Amino acid sequence: MKGKDFLTLSELEPNDLASILPVAARLKKERGKRFGSTALSGKSVALIFEKPSTRTRVSFQVAISELGGHAISLSSNELQLGRGETVEDTGHVLSRYVHGIMARVNRHADLQRLAASSSVPVINGLSDLYHPVQILADLLTLQEHKKKLKGLKVAWVGDGDNVCNSWMFGAALTGIDFVAATPKGYEPPEEVVTQAERMAREHGGSVAVVSDPGKAASGADCVITDTFVSMGLEEEKQKRIAAFIPEYQVNKPLMARAKKDAIFQHCLPAHRGEEVTADVMDGPQSVIFDEAENRLHTTKALLCFLMLGRRDYAALTP
Ligand code: CP
Ligand code: NVA
Repeated sequence: MKGKDFLTLSELEPNDLASILPVAARLKKERGKRFGSTALSGKSVALIFEKPSTRTRVSFQVAISELGGHAISLSSNELQLGRGETVEDTGHVLSRYVHGIMARVNRHADLQRLAASSSVPVINGLSDLYHPVQILADLLTLQEHKKKLKGLKVAWVGDGDNVCNSWMFGAALTGIDFVAATPKGYEPPEEVVTQAERMAREHGGSVAVVSDPGKAASGADCVITDTFVSMGLEEEKQKRIAAFIPEYQVNKPLMARAKKDAIFQHCLPAHRGEEVTADVMDGPQSVIFDEAENRLHTTKALLCFLMLGRRDYAALTP
């Protein structure tokens, strides 16, 4: 692990992921029993939201509560941040109260400023550039359904957005072959692709960006998409719909290009009839609600990984 914060997923070493996912699986299996129920006892975590959230908000609150800690969920407007207090002063002050901070922000740079001015771990709960906590859940879900990660082919079809960016790092760390098919002008940022390629070379995975969705989906073990209109981009909706539909919509013919037993993932919220058809979304290959559930278990494991001492964390390892 590089540093104290979890902002992009690239902070993790493959060994860290290989430790977080089994802890998440164990916490899942033993949910409702005493296991882990005092792990965050006496610890508080601030959850800051500049944008709406269902899964991130609820999974973090429940995770912290089930680990015996205390969550404080705040919209940025409830903080003096909304009235112009600096991100840095907020980071310094919160660090005097809480033991960890999760923030969902409009600008990734603000998250970096928050992390730099906080002495406690800062977790990215989604920024314009990355959504790393989502990928922990996606990887656990993939592993549950395919019994492995290394050597799998994952096809991303749609926008080269925050979720896609973090997926590239997740794939690079786990030996997954990741192919993103995006329309021209909606590719993931070049510097992110370059960093992911470098990580992949080091750890055994691969990342590629293509324009043909059929090529990406061909022989895939998992097909993934996300909304074409991320939060904050609502004004671009019509333009984006025209650029993405019909070619970049995940539908039955596209799923037929993947392996027969391929699964379909989506971080949610989804828009049936836009990035994915209802028959795929609600069909037998879809694992979307396992994926949503796994946000809870992976968040618990991540919080323990970042906030516990080595010995206390080791006690959770299967
Ligand atoms: N997938 C996800 O992060 O969902 P929310 O926006 O509801 O938190
Ligand atoms: N790309 C989406 C993810 C939502 C969880 C967004 O940023 O709105």
